[in-house]
Amino acid sequence: MLFSALSASVALLVPSVLATDPIKPNRTVLFHSHNDYKRPRPVYDAFDHKFRSFEADVWWDKDAHEFYVAHTIITIDHSKTFQTQMLDRVLKIMEGNYSSEYPKEAPHKFLNDPNNQPTSEPDWYKYYAEGFGGVRPIQLLLEIKSNDGKESWLHLMAQLKPLRERGWLTKWENGKIHYGPVIVVGTGGTPAYEMAPKTSRDYFFDCPAGSLNDTVQTPTGLSFPFNSTLCPMSSKSYIDVPESNLGLLPPPPKAPYQFHREIVETHRHNSTTRFYGVLAGSLARIDDFNMLIQQGSDWLNTDVMSDEAAYNRS
Ligand SMILES: *[C@@H]1O[C@H](CO)[C@@H](O)[C@H](O)[C@H]1NC(C)=O
Ligand SMILES: *[C@@H]1O[C@H](CO)[C@@H](O)[C@H](O)[C@H]1NC(C)=O
Ligand SMILES: *[C@@H]1O[C@H](CO)[C@@H](O)[C@H](O)[C@H]1NC(C)=O
Ligand SMILES: *[C@@H]1O[C@H](CO)[C@@H](O)[C@H](O)[C@H]1NC(C)=O
Ligand SMILES: *[C@@H]1O[C@H](CO)[C@@H](O)[C@H](O)[C@H]1NC(C)=O
Repeated sequence: MLFSALSASVALLVPSVLATDPIKPNRTVLFHSHNDYKRPRPVYDAFDHKFRSFEADVWWDKDAHEFYVAHTIITIDHSKTFQTQMLDRVLKIMEGNYSSEYPKEAPHKFLNDPNNQPTSEPDWYKYYAEGFGGVRPIQLLLEIKSNDGKESWLHLMAQLKPLRERGWLTKWENGKIHYGPVIVVGTGGTPAYEMAPKTSRDYFFDCPAGSLNDTVQTPTGLSFPFNSTLCPMSSKSYIDVPESNLGLLPPPPKAPYQFHREIVETHRHNSTTRFYGVLAGSLARIDDFNMLIQQGSDWLNTDVMSDEAAYNRS
């Protein structure tokens, strides 16, 4: 009696968050390496943990003609460029020089799988989760931080030349998506209004989950829908969803409904969902992630490398 009263009061004092374990999902959960360039070994660390989506925050310096990767302008380190921290590493992996997990024949297998056919109705979840020829695609999420997306975007696209020349980029051409073993998705200051009007492009947009009924407006007055040919992934800040508890306390009972609505809406637009902004240090991280998975979210956005194994390999 005394003992159970005591443990009940202890249970009140110690929030259940401390005891939460990752649930066992009934599908592959897609993992995105948030601010990947901050890891000791950008791209490689996350790749070794079976992540296939990597993020770089890039700052264009037009005098140096370089993109530096950094979170803020004052933390720029001139030895760390988009090329050194991301592009060269992705090329090394894809040329089979990094890991036996990715042999050099992999891109060829991906591109030559007979099931890999151009389509006007892409199934992005399937693309990310399974890929083709037994090879999952690599996603580069590029966030332009400098306030010059309209000009710098083109320079960033130009830097993708080595991937483009090898024929590895997923592209939109002749009204169809042609799946490649790499997909480039722009976010942050990336100008969707420059991208959407193009009838041929090898880059995509991280569309605004929750606002997908809006349209992309060009300065000349044209409008384009957020649809699957533009939006392989759609994102929203976790804390911007009502009832999120800022991601710091476990989601309250009303939260699942709110997230579910956003997810269903994104799926109706044939895109995949990513909620970012659950902090690595939050004690509620696993509660939040469990809820997102239960509500059908496709991606988990994380800084914690062990999360992938905790969910996909348990
Ligand atoms: C996983 O479970 C959810 C319900 O929790 C269901 O809607 C979904 O279809 C299931 N997915 C698979 C691949 O079985
Ligand atoms: C991979 O290794 C091959 C053979 O050594 C070399 O020719 C190629 O340049 C390397 N590629 C990268 C991106 O490291
Ligand atoms: C988006 O449009 C669809 C169909 O017109 C509608 O059912 C849905 O409620 C709208 N979503 C939002 C968030 O307004
Ligand atoms: C998406 O919108 C573009 C125009 O931006 C259009 O060309 C394309 O056919 C649409 N695709 C789908 C699947 O609705
Ligand atoms: C989503 O894809 C389905 C078929 O895969 C298609 O019928 C539907 O029109 C698409 N919805 C949108 C909003 O593009």
